[in-house]
Amino acid sequence: MIQEHPVLKVLQNYFEASAVLTPLLAGFQFLGLLRGAVDSGLLTAARTPSTTQQLAAKINTDIERVGDYCHALDAQGVFIKENDTYRLADVWDTLVAPEAVFSFEVILDHAQVLSNLIAASLKNAETYWTLTSAERLTLAKGVTTNPFSPHSPIVLDLFFQSIPGIYERLAQGAQFLDIGCGVGSGHLGTLVACPDSTAVAIEIAGDILEETRRRAIALNVHDRVVFWQGDAREFPDQGKFDFVHWAHTFFPVESRAGTLKVAFDAVKPGGYFIAPLENEPLATDEDLH
Ligand SMILES: C[S@@+](CC[C@H](N)C(=O)[O-])C[C@H]1O[C@@H](n2cnc3c(N)ncnc32)[C@H](O)[C@@H]1O
Repeated sequence: MIQEHPVLKVLQNYFEASAVLTPLLAGFQFLGLLRGAVDSGLLTAARTPSTTQQLAAKINTDIERVGDYCHALDAQGVFIKENDTYRLADVWDTLVAPEAVFSFEVILDHAQVLSNLIAASLKNAETYWTLTSAERLTLAKGVTTNPFSPHSPIVLDLFFQSIPGIYERLAQGAQFLDIGCGVGSGHLGTLVACPDSTAVAIEIAGDILEETRRRAIALNVHDRVVFWQGDAREFPDQGKFDFVHWAHTFFPVESRAGTLKVAFDAVKPGGYFIAPLENEPLATDEDLH
């Protein structure tokens, strides 16, 4: 009897097991849908309620394909259809808004690079330094806030106000040393918030520092930053800075003791040294579960 064939049990087991993949694969495809909507400009276009025809004209794409895409985004709750127009649902509008504290495009790019990094991590321990320039930039942008958001300087302002003494100093005009500045979210936001302060930004990766320089020009604070490219352990200035900031995350372990010494030596007497330790202590097995 066909109902008793042993392969049926095998198939049943297989399909039951494959249920764990269903949400993962659906999420993966959803990310692809969002990627296409971001890259084509469709998500931004739908911030204003528009017909399919208007959206197709805005992104210069065939109306039929735009119609299918809108339909899929509507099914996922990204778009809301009202009469013959589509608009972004409120939560998606919050995420996609150009003034959002994190750039939505960077969030998608970052997820892709992290996934590549994880896939490569078994074979290669030095994955950060073997990334392509574009991937490294994405990673640098993905771990920090968007300095072009009008909210970013306010968030920094509130952070500084929570540390007694430092806010007054930055507001009066302080010298800020940003060690391992990445794409500069820390010092650039501070310079926007504190127009009398100046900064020195240390970064070992030239491609990342170039992006920081571009951002500084776009934010019109470039005349108050000195960019220093090199290994932080070789930074020579001592006792000059009111405020030293070090985000150690991408510093190889063997470079941390030397960098810590440079950071301490760089602080003026009575100055401040801030080193966020967001990844410490290491999570236990129970935490990971
Ligand atoms: C956590 S990221 C910086 C995030 C940054 N503070 C921001 O707000 O955008 C750390 C940066 O340190 C840089 N870095 C790593 N080792 C370094 C070293 N020895 N000297 C200088 N920079 C280094 C990395 O290239 C990376 O861009």
